[in-house]
Amino acid sequence: MKPGSNFRELTPMPDTALVDVRFGTQALRLPLGENLAAALLVAGVMPFRRTPVSGAPRGPFCMMGACFDCLVKIDGVTRQACMLTVAEGLEIEMPAAKGDLDG
Ligand code: FES
Repeated sequence: MKPGSNFRELTPMPDTALVDVRFGTQALRLPLGENLAAALLVAGVMPFRRTPVSGAPRGPFCMMGACFDCLVKIDGVTRQACMLTVAEGLEIEMPAAKGDLDG
């Protein structure tokens, strides 16, 4: 957990393996099989993306696949982090932001 994160794992499981994951340039160790959005929040990752028009920061809101504020890009595919689980070696990036969509 990153100091300063307001998110905590409620019931840390002592047998849960930690695996290496990258979010942009950040190297993280996250619990294998946990919800990806929740694990990133506990690790202090924010924002997950920026809006394409204004560039405003966004992060998980609904945690049930409805709001799309948790979008991340994994292996070139933009997906909802709250609908995924942590796996070894994930390479996560922010989806295209303002200016990236031009031309
Ligand atoms: S947090 Fe709303 S879709 Fe993922």
